[in-house]
Amino acid sequence: MTERIESTPEWAVVRSLVKSVDLSAEFASDSQRAEHFTLRLGDLLIDTSKNLWTREIRSALGEVARRADVAGAWRRLRGGEIVNESEGRSVAHWALRVPVGSPAVVAGLDVASDVHDVLHAITQFADDVRSGRLAGATGQRFTDVVNIGIGGSDLGPAMAYDALRAFRSGPRCHFVSNVDPANTRAALDGLDPARTLVIVSSKTFTTTETMANAVAVREWIVESLGASAVAAHFAAVTTNTRATASFGVDPAKVFGFWNWVGGRYSLGSAIGLSLAIAVGPVSFGEMLAGMHLVDEHVSQSVDQPLANAPLVHALLAVWYSNFLGAETRAIVPYSHDLRRFPSYLQQLDMESNGKSVDRAGRAIAVPTGPIVWGGPGTDGQHAYFQLLHQGTHLVPVDFIGFARPTDGDQERHDALMANLFAQSQALAFGRAVDSSLPSAEHRVFAGNRPSTLILAPALTPSVLGQLIALYEHSVFFQGAVWGINSFDQWGVELGKDVAHGIGQELVDGRHHVSDPATRRLIEWYRSHRHRSVE
Ligand code: F6P
Repeated sequence: MTERIESTPEWAVVRSLVKSVDLSAEFASDSQRAEHFTLRLGDLLIDTSKNLWTREIRSALGEVARRADVAGAWRRLRGGEIVNESEGRSVAHWALRVPVGSPAVVAGLDVASDVHDVLHAITQFADDVRSGRLAGATGQRFTDVVNIGIGGSDLGPAMAYDALRAFRSGPRCHFVSNVDPANTRAALDGLDPARTLVIVSSKTFTTTETMANAVAVREWIVESLGASAVAAHFAAVTTNTRATASFGVDPAKVFGFWNWVGGRYSLGSAIGLSLAIAVGPVSFGEMLAGMHLVDEHVSQSVDQPLANAPLVHALLAVWYSNFLGAETRAIVPYSHDLRRFPSYLQQLDMESNGKSVDRAGRAIAVPTGPIVWGGPGTDGQHAYFQLLHQGTHLVPVDFIGFARPTDGDQERHDALMANLFAQSQALAFGRAVDSSLPSAEHRVFAGNRPSTLILAPALTPSVLGQLIALYEHSVFFQGAVWGINSFDQWGVELGKDVAHGIGQELVDGRHHVSDPATRRLIEWYRSHRHRSVE
């Protein structure tokens, strides 16, 4: 049985280095600190110098990575081995972005041509929708696309659709995820069924929320255009291609992917169809190329932990979670277009590393994945930043920013970025206050609060791909250090099972639920569910 990383001498060395690192003193004594702690990866500049670590701590963490054999874990993943053991699957989102001509061996088979066939089919379909060659049942061109999906079948396309706003040139996209009918109503509000294409995106094609929403939107189409319009107005993206026929989707509009693509890693697959329609196949391809660039960087530097940007990012997360007691990590993009990125990363990180047993099923004695949260700057400065500056919690922050706006107004963009740099500086170095001032103790900023800066020239499709893959691999490396299977999500299943029983009781009133607390709530709910809003 493999050792637990927290019982190794390398882990003990890091523990022995836990001390309070004073950022002002570190910068004062090391004029090269900023440069030394900055990594470059493709278009990304990643400055880790304002973190509560030293060269010695970083090296010791690198040794932890070696001891945990994260390089071996990466080679197994990249070699297409079955690394998601609890579901018996390989994990190969990297294969979705290999260039034409490169092999992608997954579970012993080269899947590269399958990947490119699907990519070709998406490209063709996206072009046909964009050009109007493919029209609705009445012959009108599609002006709107509704993507119905949840979790990884929603968060990626919805995030990227916003992020690449400046690159959109096709129909508008709308995203329906929540089974709350308000979501569908809001998304369909103002849309013309005759000009709306609906994409049902679901890896399994069984997810309750997605299927209920798909049925509701199908009714909306049928009411207005008749049942025969379903074939013209629906497309589907799924690994369960057989299930789409009974729903009424034209087989020519079904795009497959594979069980070796996890939901939260699926944006580069056919799940990105709505995005490809909105921004066009060229931009979609550039995003994939950006992801591939990071995959290659990781493969090339996997034996040099401190040169491997996603691994360094991961080691910081391990340092804060396991040695400094931080429970959360804030993601703050200074970019309105990237405002959904924190939610996207929430699923990526928390569904992957929210685990308390390791691959062998043993309890893990140290904290694993942090709670990921955040929102765009500068809005956050006028909301939760007070706690970051003067609260009692240690919250490492990732600031993400760009040198140029993707469209227009460099002047206001300068104001935005001035705020990003100011926040990172203020958190790190604080501000002393003249003690004779009234309420002086309330005005003190102690500083020494950590942040990482991730900068790029502009938020292009390629840069978005690079950012996504940076975090994907950081999450993977954190999981590899902790010995976790980062690719299953059994925790999500319990809620689905329980909701099923409760759903029946809400409707028929017969007792399917055993616990008295929930039963009382259901009684209250049933007594109110037919009353009109007072
Ligand atoms: O929330 C659990 C989950 O399985 C996610 O991992 C996945 O992204 C989401 O549900 C949606 O699943 P599907 O694409 O099969 O509808």
